[in-house]
Amino acid sequence: MTPDLAEDALKELIAAELAAVRDRSLGLTTRVLDDPELTAQVSPLMSPLVWDLAHVGNYEELWLLRAAAGIEPMRPEIDDLYDAFEHPRAERPSLPLLPPDEAGVYIGAVRAKVLDSLERIRFREDDPLVAGGFVYGMVIQHEHQHDETMLATHQLRTGAPALTDPDEPPPRPAGGPFPAEVLIEAGPFEMGASDDPWAYDNERGAHIVDLPAYYIDTFPVTNREYQAFIEAGGYDDPRWWTPEGWRWRSARDRRAPGFWRREGDRWLRRRFGRIEPVPPDEPVQHVSWYEADAYARWAGKRLPTEAEWEKAARWDPLARRSRRFPWGDVYEEGRANLGQRRLRPAPVGSFPAGASAYGVQQMLGDVWEWTSSDFAPYPGFRAFPYKEYSQVFFGSDYKVLRGGSWATHPLVCRGTFRNWDYPIRRQIFTGFRCARDAG
Ligand code: AVJ
Ligand code: FE
Repeated sequence: MTPDLAEDALKELIAAELAAVRDRSLGLTTRVLDDPELTAQVSPLMSPLVWDLAHVGNYEELWLLRAAAGIEPMRPEIDDLYDAFEHPRAERPSLPLLPPDEAGVYIGAVRAKVLDSLERIRFREDDPLVAGGFVYGMVIQHEHQHDETMLATHQLRTGAPALTDPDEPPPRPAGGPFPAEVLIEAGPFEMGASDDPWAYDNERGAHIVDLPAYYIDTFPVTNREYQAFIEAGGYDDPRWWTPEGWRWRSARDRRAPGFWRREGDRWLRRRFGRIEPVPPDEPVQHVSWYEADAYARWAGKRLPTEAEWEKAARWDPLARRSRRFPWGDVYEEGRANLGQRRLRPAPVGSFPAGASAYGVQQMLGDVWEWTSSDFAPYPGFRAFPYKEYSQVFFGSDYKVLRGGSWATHPLVCRGTFRNWDYPIRRQIFTGFRCARDAG
C-alpha cells in the first residue's frame, strides 16, 4: 500500500468514527430528553447535558478547524462558556449556554466543515499534531469520554427512564472454575504506550518497571462479595478505613454502594431510573476509592498499584512484550463488555476469551478499577498537545482508574489508557479488584 492509500483509509475510518460517536451523543441528549431536562443540572457534580453537547463541538472546532486546518473561529464569543477551566461544573447551569436547538445547529455546522477539511488535510509525519491522524483521534476520544460522562448524568437523574437498555445478553461460556487469584512472578515489564498513534500524553513513554511477585484477583469484586463485607459490619468498623475514608463514610453515614437501597432482606439498586434486585455475580459498581480500599483491607488484601494492574493486563511473559489489549494487539468484539452494548457490567466469567496472558479476566470493560496509585507522570513526560488534558491533574489529589467500563468505547480502552478521579467519587462506573503480596 502506498502511504497515500494508507492516509485515505485512515480518513475513511476517522469519518466513520466521527459519525458513530455523534450518533451516540445525540442518542444521549436531544433524541431522548426535552429542553428542560437538557438544560437542568441533576447534580452539582455534573454539567447540564446541553453543556456537554456544545462543549464537544467547541473542542472539535478548536482542534480540528482552528489548530489543524487554520480555519477562522466560527463563534469566538462562546469559547469561554465551554472552557472547562473557566467554569466549574456547579456553575455551568447559570451560564448563558446555547439552548439545545442552537447547540445542535452549531455542532452540526462545525462537523460539516471538519468533514470538508478532512479531505484536504495531509497527515504530515513531521507534524506531531496530525501525524497518524492524532488530533482527530484525540477529538473522537474526547467525545466518547463525554458520552460516558453524560451516562453518569443519566444515572444520577431521577424521574421516568429515558434510555432503553439493549440488554444484549452477556455470553455464557462454558469453562472454569477459575482460580480466585493469579500469581504474577517477580520481574520487569514494559509499562506505557510505545507506538500507539492515538495514545494520550499521560500514557506515553514506554518504560521498564520491575515488580516483586504479587497475586491479583482473576475477577473484579462482585456484588455478592461486597454484600458479605456489608453484612460483616464493614461500614461500622474504622479498622478497615483510612482516616479520610472513615470521615467520608461518617459524614453521610454511608452503608452501601451508590444507588443501592435495602428492602426487607434484600438489596435493590436504581439503574437508569429502574429499580431492580442487585445481581450477585456482576462486579460491584459505584463505589468510592475509600470503599474499595476498606473492602480490600477487610479481605486481607489491598488494591493493586497501577503498575501491577498493567503488568497483569498486558505483559506476555513468554514473548517478553506488552500487548495492546489483554488478549493481543488487535481489538476484537466479544472479548470484553465495552461500548454501551448493555447498560451494565456483565457477570464475572462472561469473557474468558478476554483473559490476559496470565489468565486475569475482565480487565477491560465492565467497571473502571481503582488502583492504589496517585495520578503521576511517567518518566520523560511531555505535555501534548495541551497541559490541561493531563498535566494539571498530576499529584496526590487524584487516584488512577484502569480498564474502562461497560460505558467506555473501545477506541478509548487500550490497555495503557489512564483515567483519574477524586477518591470520594462514585457516580462513575467504578469497581475494583484486589491484590496481595506474594512471599
Ligand atoms: C480523563 C475522564 C478524567 O472527563 O475530566 C474530557 C476526560 N478531558 N474533557 C474528564 C476529558 C477533557 C477527563 N477524564
Ligand atoms: Fe472535555
